[in-house]
Amino acid sequence: MPKGRIFEEAADLLRKAGYSLPDELSAGRKLIVEAKEAGMKFFLAKPMDVPTYVEHGVADIGVAGKDVLLEEQRDVYEVLDLKISSCYLAVAGLPGTKRGEVAPKVATKYPNVATQYFKEQGEQVEVIRLNGSIELAPLVGLAERIVDIVSTGRTLKENGLLELETMEAVTSRLIVNPVSYRMKDQQIDDIIHRLQQIIEEGQQ
Ligand code: PRP
Repeated sequence: MPKGRIFEEAADLLRKAGYSLPDELSAGRKLIVEAKEAGMKFFLAKPMDVPTYVEHGVADIGVAGKDVLLEEQRDVYEVLDLKISSCYLAVAGLPGTKRGEVAPKVATKYPNVATQYFKEQGEQVEVIRLNGSIELAPLVGLAERIVDIVSTGRTLKENGLLELETMEAVTSRLIVNPVSYRMKDQQIDDIIHRLQQIIEEGQQ
């Protein structure tokens, strides 16, 4: 499970799907929490690291944002769109930022996504990798543009930045380790179906 803002929504979905999860899952600082009644053990990782734990098979399943999956390109099955934590990837910059500068700098937490995007656009850019607070980069002159997640748009607005290009819609996905899926197919399918039902009910 990813720590942070996706966590509560994902835990809520699991609870609605009938899994009894202990309170310490949300409240404490423990990184491994056993949910005995649900027959699950949770590892709490940084969102960007969830696919790594699943790819290596130490976790059978995981919850990861589409942004993270696009960036990390891990060998995992993406089996279900959980339709939570909706946001999107966008290019942003200060007002007046124009295309056509020679190799503009682009700051981002998603260097692979950004590189691929600008390549497809036929634009040559220099990608600078940062780990957070990406919106700071154009304000202090580290980069002309940023590639980042926009959710409410508040961070861009409060920092005087404009969205220049919308890139890709993002929601959280359920991911599965390919070997786990072969060995524990019934258990995993049961989780997928229970979650699927709740997601579909939520859409009606
Ligand atoms: C994310 C993202 C933006 C912000 C967008 O950052 O990188 O900065 O949220 O949300 P908004 O459109 O609702 O303002 P996060 O809070 O995850 O922290 P980070 O800057 O450390 O990556």
